Amino acid sequence: MKVLVIGGGGREHALVWKISQSPMIEEIYCAPGNAGIAQIARCESIGVLDIEKLAEFALKNEVDLTVVGPELPLTMGIVDYFESLGLKICGPGKDASELEGSKAFAKNLMKKYRIPTGEYEVFSDYVQAKNYLKEASYPCVVKADGLAAGKGVIIVSDRVEGDAAVELIMKKKSFGKAGDRIIIEEYLEGEEASFLAFTDGKFLLPLPTSQDHKPIYDGDRGPNTGGMGAYSPAPVITDALHQKIMEEIMIPTVRAMDAEEKKFKGIIYAGLMIKDEKAKVLEFNIRFGDPETQPLLLRMKSDLIPVLLSIAEERLSRVKIEWDQHPSVCVVMASRGYPGNYEKGKEILGLEDAEKLYGVKVFHAGTALNGGRTVTSGGRVLGVTATGKGIDEAIDLAYQAVKKISWEGACYRRDIGKKAQTEARIKI
Ligand code: AMP
Ligand code: GLY
Repeated sequence: MKVLVIGGGGREHALVWKISQSPMIEEIYCAPGNAGIAQIARCESIGVLDIEKLAEFALKNEVDLTVVGPELPLTMGIVDYFESLGLKICGPGKDASELEGSKAFAKNLMKKYRIPTGEYEVFSDYVQAKNYLKEASYPCVVKADGLAAGKGVIIVSDRVEGDAAVELIMKKKSFGKAGDRIIIEEYLEGEEASFLAFTDGKFLLPLPTSQDHKPIYDGDRGPNTGGMGAYSPAPVITDALHQKIMEEIMIPTVRAMDAEEKKFKGIIYAGLMIKDEKAKVLEFNIRFGDPETQPLLLRMKSDLIPVLLSIAEERLSRVKIEWDQHPSVCVVMASRGYPGNYEKGKEILGLEDAEKLYGVKVFHAGTALNGGRTVTSGGRVLGVTATGKGIDEAIDLAYQAVKKISWEGACYRRDIGKKAQTEARIKI
């Protein structure tokens, strides 16, 4: 089989790495890819939004299956376009992608189908939003409706901050058209976790649980990023809670999408807030998480290709997946300045030494080749990922590997996985 993976981050390196182990694979292409992906796949410099060119490439190279990493091509309708040309592709169509593409759509769906989430109001009128803030209880959360690369969410602690957030999103248009509508939402306390499942629109197959670390600094301080590290499983999701999440959130959401004639096929990812053994949805994503995919795929023992194919062909109920019981941890190494303006072009040293450690895999994100040297080319540069017998060993191995890698200005959090250690100890 020939497979095309779309994207060029750590998530896509993990996907290409996992797919490359399938005995069904004859050739893997990746567009645009990165320096790590180029070691195991043929990279093609086509942008992820250039849907026509991607389809042309898939047709010309007789690609049997396309896998989409990022959300934007999905919300733009890449799946509908590929399918109209007879190309097999794994992911939701344009209509179903609204689940991530519009927070107002997702919140209204949850309200209609009684899926647990925070209280909220939607506004397309600036004055009405400002009036609402006069009566609101604080803290609350102001969100741009559309896609804003994880940055369109502002937690405000009083009316002054609330007014400023509404101004930023609706008047200054800091997130462009994504801010034409906003949501003002109840602030939820608790611990966050990521819950991903494969679905063909009828049947759901959950992946193990995981947890991201969004803020840039240790102790969850500082501005939000795309994710500074992740681990799997997330002990905060107990077996009983897992069942409840499937019954009250995941299955009802996929059914609701079907009932709304927006059948969802692909990977459904619920960002959850957990408190007192209860989960509420913060947001839905329509794709694999980044960096959650790195530790998740390190734990996947089964071949990924039959799973992805059975989603595209709507026969997922016949698939079984085996997972490694050992936990895994991914520490993201980033460029100095990220998530603001960051440096690029710094030579990365020590990659081979890091990967010599047993149980360690270094996934590339923002890397490029420059005259035979691997250099930084993005904010998040590497996802240094490890499995261990227990969470302590996985953390230890990941950080041992991190310490072998260097470039000028490399930054990373020192506390990835700490919450899982604390949870595990509380349970003992
Ligand atoms: P979202 O893109 O909606 O998941 O929001 C990004 C991040 O903002 C989440 O991962 C949370 O850390 C935070 N957040 C979003 N909504 C809420 C909420 N209602 N209460 C507390 N924190 C939130
Ligand atoms: N890890 C957060 C995301 O993929 O959106």
